[in-house]
Amino acid sequence: MPDRQRQLLVVANRLPIRAVTEHGETRYETSPGGLVSALGPVMSARPGSTWVGWAGAPGDAPAPFELDGVHLVPVALDPSDVEDYYEGFSNSTLWPLYHDAISPADYHRHWWDRYVVVNQRFAHAVVDRAEIDATVWVHDYQLQLVPGMLREMRPDLRIGFFLHIPFPAREIFMRLPWRRQVAKGLLGADLVGFQTRTTLHNFRHSVPRVCDATTHGSVITYGSRDVATVRHPIGIDFDRFSDGASAPAAAERAETLLENLGSPTTVLLGVDRLDYTKGIDRRLRAYHELLQERRLDPETTTLVQIAEPSRSNVNRYNEIRVTVEQLVGEINGDFGTMDKPAVVYLHQSQPFDELIALYRLADVMVVTPFRDGMNLVAKEYVAARVDNRGVLVLSEFAGAAHQLRQAVLVNPYDIDGVKGAIEAAATMPPAEQSSRMRPMRRLVRRTSAQQWATSFLAELERT
Ligand code: F6P
Repeated sequence: MPDRQRQLLVVANRLPIRAVTEHGETRYETSPGGLVSALGPVMSARPGSTWVGWAGAPGDAPAPFELDGVHLVPVALDPSDVEDYYEGFSNSTLWPLYHDAISPADYHRHWWDRYVVVNQRFAHAVVDRAEIDATVWVHDYQLQLVPGMLREMRPDLRIGFFLHIPFPAREIFMRLPWRRQVAKGLLGADLVGFQTRTTLHNFRHSVPRVCDATTHGSVITYGSRDVATVRHPIGIDFDRFSDGASAPAAAERAETLLENLGSPTTVLLGVDRLDYTKGIDRRLRAYHELLQERRLDPETTTLVQIAEPSRSNVNRYNEIRVTVEQLVGEINGDFGTMDKPAVVYLHQSQPFDELIALYRLADVMVVTPFRDGMNLVAKEYVAARVDNRGVLVLSEFAGAAHQLRQAVLVNPYDIDGVKGAIEAAATMPPAEQSSRMRPMRRLVRRTSAQQWATSFLAELERT
């Protein structure tokens, strides 16, 4: 069957939608996000494209419906699925483990059991709708068993899997009591993709060992099948950020925001989900010390920290929130004035236009996760700097650091190093800012989200 006729099914924990309730009626609209900007154009161009995922609220799922030319199939998660599969196994076992176990992972057999059940539910939703020889692209750590389940039920399918978060080193992966089942699940795919060479290497060195497979270069032979593995870093919708930032409205909004902040001469910006992997606490400590040591002038410097609420039923997320908010209070208590805060902290997500304005006005973007699959915020900042100005301070342990080599790279555990990087960024001459920003912008433009999706699918359909 020629490739262009294959039906495409995308399977991800979340559907690319958000519910809007008006006058007591709920409707769904597309929620702009990394994955949907990558896959939307490819899916709308292929008749019959289907996205299987959770609509985001516990309880009954809405009936399947069409949105922007894509057939959406909601999978129901009841409150105990959310507790055990999503908050439990996905976000309290796999999430910390795969992020280098920077926070201890919890292992509970009933969480694992529910992870299996929910993965089966997603797999069945695919099988019920997949045409013969369809292409199925499964996403991320919540659904690692789905490729293997699909392979057993429907050997005709072409199956791809992409891991958006890191895959840990072998010693860490080996701690997982269900490592063999997870490895087998992933090896059900024809093509498995990773963000960086390091995480691809970790996979190739862990997975064959736990399930008697052999590795030959980029191919893992498992039983009678070959599984291709690839490094395939995700991008962003460059034009959306670049065009948005070029619009006069963005410049006007940036000016207003700057005035509202008390017209500081240096604005530092952090934009993160409020997650303990993001290093927000260390970043705040570094900033506090820089103000205390007068290496940054409290009268002319402001840090804006956007912390998008996330996974708030998981204890560790509440703990990091308390830590971050305490630090913000200390810094403002020490250095804020009636006219100008030292830190503006918002525990809210920001609309696109506000984000663009913030990127435009930030002299220094501080992205310091302890571990991160990619970090799209770093790429968004670069795309929004249409003036080729601004400096990106970027953790070595974010996938983006493998591509954005002209950023000021830092070890986020090294507070003195982070302080030095922020200080250097805040005082960097404009010519050096441009010479670093230009190549990064070229790279982010060239390796866009759309290019990422098209080339992964092309490779999958060639396997
Ligand atoms: O980075 C992994 C990821 O699952 C992203 O795909 C997603 O945007 C983010 O984490 C938020 O996850 P959640 O679905 O748990 O809110």
